Amino acid sequence: MCGIVGYIGKKDAVSILIDGLKRLEYRGYDSAGIAVLQDGQIKLRRSAGKLANLEDTVKKNPLAGIVGIGHTRWATHGKPSEENAHPHTDCTGDLVVVHNGIIENYHLLKKQLLKEGHIFKSETDTEVVAHLLEKHYQGDLHKALRETLKELAGSYALGVISRKDPATIVAARNGSPLILGVGEGEYFIASDAPAILQHTRKVIYLDDGDSARLTVAGIIIYDKAGQEIKKKVNVITWDPIKTEKAGFKHFMLKEIFEQPQVILDTFRGRVMPEEGEIFLEEVQLEPDYVQNINKIFVVACGTSYHAGLVGKYLFEDYLRIPSEVDMASEFRYRNPIIDCQTLVIVISQSGETADTLAGLREAKTKGSKILSICNVVGSTITRAADGTIYTHAGPEIGVASTKAFTAQLTALYIILLYLGRRRGIMSKEEAQTIIEKMMHIPSQVEKILATAGEIIKIAQDFFKKTDFLYLGRNVNYPIALEGALKLKEISYIHAEGYPAGEMKHGPIALIDENMPVLAIATKCKTYEKILSNIEEVKARAGIVIILATEGDESIKKKADYVFFVPETLEILSPLLNVIPLQLLAYHIAERRGCDVDQPRNLAKSVTVE
Ligand code: AGP
Repeated sequence: MCGIVGYIGKKDAVSILIDGLKRLEYRGYDSAGIAVLQDGQIKLRRSAGKLANLEDTVKKNPLAGIVGIGHTRWATHGKPSEENAHPHTDCTGDLVVVHNGIIENYHLLKKQLLKEGHIFKSETDTEVVAHLLEKHYQGDLHKALRETLKELAGSYALGVISRKDPATIVAARNGSPLILGVGEGEYFIASDAPAILQHTRKVIYLDDGDSARLTVAGIIIYDKAGQEIKKKVNVITWDPIKTEKAGFKHFMLKEIFEQPQVILDTFRGRVMPEEGEIFLEEVQLEPDYVQNINKIFVVACGTSYHAGLVGKYLFEDYLRIPSEVDMASEFRYRNPIIDCQTLVIVISQSGETADTLAGLREAKTKGSKILSICNVVGSTITRAADGTIYTHAGPEIGVASTKAFTAQLTALYIILLYLGRRRGIMSKEEAQTIIEKMMHIPSQVEKILATAGEIIKIAQDFFKKTDFLYLGRNVNYPIALEGALKLKEISYIHAEGYPAGEMKHGPIALIDENMPVLAIATKCKTYEKILSNIEEVKARAGIVIILATEGDESIKKKADYVFFVPETLEILSPLLNVIPLQLLAYHIAERRGCDVDQPRNLAKSVTVE
């Protein structure tokens, strides 16, 4: 997630901007920049990498001013570099803009602006905003912003300054947070409160569609219709550290609650519900190659491997392409059978996992095309792959992966739709149905998160247990594995995931009154089968927690505990079913006093074998 800071007042903007950006570092970034108005000109300093690099740049080439904007960028379009760092300028250099979010229609806008003679300098979606402002500017920066917003689709928090409106910052918000700080004769914009708390605790929260004009005389706010409105000035009582976690006790819990937005951000701009179409410009696969893919391998580790396992079910069931999923540490040494028509998909949150990178290289030497699903732009794996579908999860701070996992699943559904439509095996109607149901997932995840209190009750009864069994079938078998991994890696309770049908081949020997069993029994084609598996457990005095579909009241009598999730397509159910399992692992670990964000012995990215 990017960070935005802006200042207008009587003090030196440069130090306020850089200090504010430092307080947003926890959001993660890979480049940074500031711009101030100095002697009637826009002065711009940007650098790739950490803020220390930007500070060096500023030291070598100082600037000063009382109006300015700053930005830390988490790359989503275009690699981390100086030319892709914000702020971005228009053709004239008269104005600069900083942006957080995704401009979904930037391809079309950029094409039109290029036709109109605008010169682009970066690979970013944001730069189209600078050129639209230039196009619409007729003497009033805020009016130019309002005209620009009419052309944008997607999510944005924007800050703009211009040499032609020297004592002004204009800002707007739609889908990405932006707050305004109210000081004594000085005003601020920021993505999040920590950036400005040391200057003021009085903030105004902009709503989607709002825009604002900040001058030293004060702030004027306009609603979606462009009407001037009054907004409440709130006083923040949080301490800065707590605001980094947005009031959550741990980053992991914050990241679990970010998943509705992450899933939305990962599919938005890539799916066209009306047309049942998928846009994957970042994936350059020739049509005849797509038609002739004869095998898919998915290669990954840990949680990313579990995402890949869901992919196997999707690809074989819908695309009828033989698919295998390998743990990268095994794949790299087993001399897999690969040819030029094999598609290898590597999945990695960090893009730096040594085994996964080695698996990628092994596949490459054998001649296959490599797609990566990754959360870090410009990471080693993305640079080694032929194409990358970026998960727009933002930086994942908690070592136990949560939002990256659901973002990876979302990317896999997008690949399924992309290949299905292009191989002519998935009809437009079928794709539209899946897309339509996928558009409901974020609000359904919100609904699950709103009932997290039920999970806390279950966690209170089980946090002292020493073992746990998770059961699932078909696309929810990998979710059983993921639920078990979440629990074991943060609570240190021994937990195993099994295909429910496997119980009678050994694991049932474990069942007694001390062994909790969590069964994923949401509506699916093997629903009756999993009910029998639950009976097998109950018959041996096992304790059963059931994950069921809302409205399935009959299942209650088979369970000691039931947690309901909304109904969706079976193939999409992993996106919903994993949420309660993440919450259960978190609340059990938290009750056990474990270091949830930094579990013992674990690293966020395993960059060695
Ligand atoms: C996830 O909860 C684990 N911390 C771990 O299994 C992780 O998924 C694995 O190390 C792979 O990491 P990557 O996705 O960054 O490649």
